[in-house]
Amino acid sequence: MGLAIMCSGGDAPGMNPAIKKFVDYVYKSHQIPYFIYDGLEGLIDGNIKQAQHHDVAGILHNGGAIIGSSRSKRFYDYKYRKIAFENLNKYGITGLVVLGGDGSYNALERLNSEFGIDCIGIPSTIDNDIYGTEYCLGVDTALNVIRSAVDNIRDTASTFKRAFVVEVMGRECGYLAAVTALSSGAEICVIPEMCFNKDIAGYTLKKEVKAGRRYILAIAAEGCNRTQEIKEWLEKDIGMETRITVLGHIQRGGNPTVKDRMMAFEFVVRGIDLLRSKQKVHHAIGYQKGEFIAMDIHEVNDGKYTIPSEITRDLHFLD
Ligand code: F6P
Repeated sequence: MGLAIMCSGGDAPGMNPAIKKFVDYVYKSHQIPYFIYDGLEGLIDGNIKQAQHHDVAGILHNGGAIIGSSRSKRFYDYKYRKIAFENLNKYGITGLVVLGGDGSYNALERLNSEFGIDCIGIPSTIDNDIYGTEYCLGVDTALNVIRSAVDNIRDTASTFKRAFVVEVMGRECGYLAAVTALSSGAEICVIPEMCFNKDIAGYTLKKEVKAGRRYILAIAAEGCNRTQEIKEWLEKDIGMETRITVLGHIQRGGNPTVKDRMMAFEFVVRGIDLLRSKQKVHHAIGYQKGEFIAMDIHEVNDGKYTIPSEITRDLHFLD
């Protein structure tokens, strides 16, 4: 039986450890592992090769993904999905593991429902926005990259009596911003899921500045598109010189943390065990309350992730 692995969408630290575990565990299970290079685009173009142990030697500590990734417009067209299926057939691949986010899960659902390919989704996105799992690969590394940047910014902010608005990634989801604001003790957090109460924030911060507050840290989720507006408000209303730092793609790179490596191993083992179970498999592996679970991929695609209230309840000025 041939089993393939592919990355799709934005890369996430933890993909390489997952790829390594995939090759080692599939061989250990007496099956043949295949790589699909460059995501769905590579699948359509037949960019497929049998993986060898030496391909995955020395990759555990690297961010990114040695097999590449892509976002594919062609895959929306049935004609190309059929070509993708035929390419899998050519190599005798009956099961597919995809490391990716919600867009990738939609592609998997299509391959499964249209062509009966067994598939496993492993949540891999720094956005942490996939329904049915508390954790996606890459999140811990991204949060630590952001933490380090915000710690540095605080040094200069406090020295110079400045406010900073730090914009973090997350697409439509405010998870990275919310956890960063909590763990960095930021005064302000602006996320798409909640309403930032400017009046109360303004009243409180002005009082604090008068009483000697030297700096303000604001964390803004990119999905709000309010970074510039918050900067202007801090300058005009609160009266503090303000700078913006947009962290951008540095958040997606870097050596995966120990947590991301260990989670990668476990996600992959659970996925392969399911694929070997000889049932019809169209599942996403998730992590909930300390347990790994398998959910129907259709259900995951239909659901909407929400940030746990234990995270949002302690953020300031959010309704
Ligand atoms: O989904 C991961 C992510 O990094 C988002 O946080 C961000 O909005 C998007 O991808 C950026 O995409 P690109 O790398 O195509 O600019």
